[in-house]
Amino acid sequence: MMLDPNDFIITRKRKKYKFAQFANSPLCFEFDEWRKQPVDIVEIGAGNGLFSVELAERYPERQFVALDVKGDRLQKGAYEAAARGLTNVQFIRARADQVLELFTSASLMAIWVTFPDPFPRERSAGRRLTHPTFLARYGELLRPEGALHLKHDNCNFFHWSLEQFVQKEWYVDELSFDLHESDLPDEYKIQTTYEQRWLSEGLVTNFVRVRKR
Ligand SMILES: C[S@@+](CC[C@H](N)C(=O)[O-])C[C@H]1O[C@@H](n2cnc3c(N)ncnc32)[C@H](O)[C@@H]1O
Repeated sequence: MMLDPNDFIITRKRKKYKFAQFANSPLCFEFDEWRKQPVDIVEIGAGNGLFSVELAERYPERQFVALDVKGDRLQKGAYEAAARGLTNVQFIRARADQVLELFTSASLMAIWVTFPDPFPRERSAGRRLTHPTFLARYGELLRPEGALHLKHDNCNFFHWSLEQFVQKEWYVDELSFDLHESDLPDEYKIQTTYEQRWLSEGLVTNFVRVRKR
């Protein structure tokens, strides 16, 4: 069904329009609509998912999923993917703690966690997407040779995450405290929407790839 934005002109309705867009896209799924299927790479807290769209275009033989709790953001990536004719990227509105119900154990080649909310207060540490409770789920989903990638601008959050990795069963495989000045692969340097903003404000991107021991 074609939606007319003019039916949704008031600001509050604009969000409704985006939710309707999400509901209408064949690439978008609510948590309980998703059926387990082969997936290679998942981006968690993907926002609009444009980073996954870029990766999907580079790797047409791999299946991507962008996951976020906000459907109004995800729909943007879904319509961009459709405009580019991509069929290897899908978008799921779900929480990161639900991933074990969405994907098969030991099936993923890679997980990306891109600029997650840092939740700086100590009492909110459990909500950080690199908290050990989330790392255990990611570890369960990755293939033995699979890798978890993290990008972040916030040094405190990034260092805290590094500590969580090394205290648990992960080892650091690739690391940069300034990704865009590093020799790491170009695909890592595809900028997410938040990353574009932070880089334009003079911040740098910290990057780490970790694997299970
Ligand atoms: C700072 S934004 C970064 C968005 C995107 N990765 C980027 O770099 O442009 C963090 C995103 O994580 C999502 N998020 C936060 N907690 C989440 C959770 N528990 N499960 C899934 N998504 C979550 C938010 O909705 C938001 O879109």
